[in-house]
Amino acid sequence: MRNVVLVGFMGTGKSVVGKRVAAELGWPFYDTDQLIEAKAGMKVSRIFETKGEEAFRSMEREVVAEISQRDGCVISTGGGVVADPENVRRLTEKGELICLVATPEVILKRIERRRDARPLLLEGDPLVRIKTLLEQRRPYYAQASFSLDTTFLSIEKIVEAILRRMKSAHA
Ligand code: S3P
Repeated sequence: MRNVVLVGFMGTGKSVVGKRVAAELGWPFYDTDQLIEAKAGMKVSRIFETKGEEAFRSMEREVVAEISQRDGCVISTGGGVVADPENVRRLTEKGELICLVATPEVILKRIERRRDARPLLLEGDPLVRIKTLLEQRRPYYAQASFSLDTTFLSIEKIVEAILRRMKSAHA
């Protein structure tokens, strides 16, 4: 079976779901944001604040280059990873991109409590910002071979759907 690579907008559940999928498969789990934070020794929001988005994207590319080479793992990615064609090329070498989707309203509800951790959503009206970014990123997320609308699904159901998809696609 190929690596499971979860992509999609902030607040669609990539990290929680990825961890659970990995546990079900008995595979290691990697989260690009967590790896960047470990490397930089600071939170993503702090990296944006002190070094800027470009520096963050370059760390993101480094982390993707490293983990995309591993076999048999589940990788959850930051919402902007797929906007870089080189990241997509690397991640699809050994993995299948699965995009988690949700409506802007649900995304806002899910991230509201920790909005300070999402530097891209700090300026302006958050719902408008989410809608704008979603629209800009539509073509990038469309590169995934499988999309799953998580708006009305429990974590269990999302995990089940991903496992079913991975097993049937590569049976
Ligand atoms: C970003 C999403 C965040 C994090 C950073 C940038 C984005 O990850 O990588 O704040 O560009 O959409 P999550 O999708 O895990 O929130």
